[in-house]
This record gives sequence, structure tokens and C-alpha cells, in this order.
Amino acid sequence: MTSPLGQQMEYQFRLHDRAGRKFLTDLREQLRVEHEPTYQHCLRVGDLARRFALYLGVEKDVAEDFGLAVSCHDIGKLLVPSEILYKTDKLTRAERGIVKAHSSNGERLLEGCSFPLVREAAAIAKHHHETKAAQGQMDIPASVHIASMCDMVDAYTSVRSYRENFTLRFALRTLAEDKRQSFVPEFQRPFLVFMQKVFAQDLAHEAVVLGLQETKQEQQARLRKSCLHGKVRKRHMRVS
Ligand SMILES: [Fe+2]
Ligand SMILES: [Fe+2]
Repeated sequence: MTSPLGQQMEYQFRLHDRAGRKFLTDLREQLRVEHEPTYQHCLRVGDLARRFALYLGVEKDVAEDFGLAVSCHDIGKLLVPSEILYKTDKLTRAERGIVKAHSSNGERLLEGCSFPLVREAAAIAKHHHETKAAQGQMDIPASVHIASMCDMVDAYTSVRSYRENFTLRFALRTLAEDKRQSFVPEFQRPFLVFMQKVFAQDLAHEAVVLGLQETKQEQQARLRKSCLHGKVRKRHMRVS
């Protein structure tokens, strides 16, 4: 049975937009050629979103289109030079600005196209780092909220040029605590339940995720990973 959130997704992505699908797939292919690690991140984020949509009861074809749109969330990184994207040292202020602009650049790459699926992808590309901030100004669709959470989980659990990966447990706890107040509970809660169910095996040795206390060993491991070249990781925190 489709959940109310799933029904919302069905309504938004039942587009049967073959031309839009081709447009996005071709553009995503350019990302593979230019920035392979970012392309792989995009694929994983899109796949996680697709699986969440299926969990919500969304039909397979619709879930796949949703996953494709989500997999183009970082398409604006096509305009970020590799030496900045994969820099291991701290970014300069100007470089941070270039990376940060990937959201608006992504929208720009997609907004000229009138295919319905591409328009949905453009909204995801534009807002995937600012769901809560933009919420007060406009009606952010569920697809953007979901893309944002999938993106955050993959960004935390994958290795970056400037740091190692964090555990899935740590990523989900960070999402649950949401100290930056980036996520909306209406979407956050079902996503966390989904993640716990689907990744139960991965999390089996980690007990319950929601409201979980960090063990001493975990804390030490996290702090070890927080430091790269003797610098505090906070300084290296980048948008994904
Ligand atoms: Fe991003
Ligand atoms: Fe991303």
C-alpha cells in the first residue's frame, strides 16, 4: 500500500517523460567523464532515493525516474575544476564559493530544458543543500527533502579527498539529531525508519540508531577521523 508521502511522490513523478530521461542520462554521463568520484556519489544517492521511494510504495517506473532526477543533484559540479573538487587541503574562500555555487549552476544547466522530469531535477539541484532555509520562502517539494537526506548519508559514509568516511550509524545519528536544523521531521522520521530497516544488517552490531549514545570507542574513532594532516575536520567541512 502506498503511504501518503509515496502518493505525493507518485503524483510528482508519474511523468512518462522519455525525452527528459534521455536528457538527464546524457548529462549525467558527462559527469562520469569529467568527475568519476562525483558521478559515483550521484549514482549512489539516486539509488538510495529510488529504494526509499519503493519502500514508500511508489511504482517501479516512477521510483526509477525519481532516482534519476536525484542522481543529477550535483550536476553543477561539471562546472567545478577537478583541482578544486578533489583538493586535499583546506579550500580558499574563493574556492569554497566555486564549490558552493554548484547548486545554482546545476539549476542553470537544467532550467533551460522544458521536459517535466528535467524541471523536477532542476528543483532538486537548486535546493538540495538548503531544504530548511528555503522552506519558509517557498513550498519545497518532498523530492528535494528526500534527495537532501540521501545526499547527506552518502556524503558522510563515503571517502572524500580531504577525509575518511564516517560510519552509517554516525551518519544516521547526525541526521536524527539534526543540530543544523536542516531537515523537516515529516520526511526525516520515515527516512530514518527506512534506513534502519533496509540497513539492519549493517547496523546490527550497532543497536538502535535513533537517540543512540555514542560509545567511547566510537567517539575516539570519530575524533581520529576528524583530523587530517593535523587540522581539525570542521575546517574541512564542505558541501557535498
Ligand atoms: Fe551538492
Ligand atoms: Fe551530493
